[in-house]
Amino acid sequence: MNHITERATLRVIRLDHKRLASVTAAMLDFVRMLGEGGPAPDPIVLRAMLYYIREYPEQFHHPMEDRFLFAALRNRTDDFDDVLDELQCEHIEGDARLRNLEHALTRFELKGEAVLLGLSTLMEQYAHFCANHRRVEETVIIPAAERFLTEADWACIDTAVESRLDPFGEATFEGESLESLYRLIADAVPAVNEARQDA
Ligand SMILES: [Fe+2]
Ligand SMILES: [Fe+2]
Repeated sequence: MNHITERATLRVIRLDHKRLASVTAAMLDFVRMLGEGGPAPDPIVLRAMLYYIREYPEQFHHPMEDRFLFAALRNRTDDFDDVLDELQCEHIEGDARLRNLEHALTRFELKGEAVLLGLSTLMEQYAHFCANHRRVEETVIIPAAERFLTEADWACIDTAVESRLDPFGEATFEGESLESLYRLIADAVPAVNEARQDA
């Protein structure tokens, strides 16, 4: 793919997906390590990842898709309304799943190994749910947008997305902005760091 000519909106969506996939994979590894009985990773790292993966999509990624890309596609064709409805429901469902994961992590911190299975099951289901969501966006919706959107549509949504590239606003975790939180996670987790290098 030629990254120089790639639409700004699609570049941002693909990069976000790569980052979110790497953080989700790192969360899964982290939960597996908890079950292996070796040196226990600090749960604060998992909390930071949960926070990032909840706040970033909530504040930026999902609104960018819902308001710009999905809205522009709905405007041009009805053919994908069912898929888009499902994806928009999943944006809300993902937040509920993360709340359950946070609760499961708290239970693990309080009760230990007896409740680890619950945490790892939820984590695996969440990783699968997210991977499927990204796959539908990348294999159905992005190709549809490339087919149906006009140059004027792209100019409009690319400008909107580019003007929102610093979306981190007020959200912080332990005093860090979401972007510096991502850098913190990347520094702590080698696999995430590799995704950052590709950015
Ligand atoms: Fe999405
Ligand atoms: Fe997405």
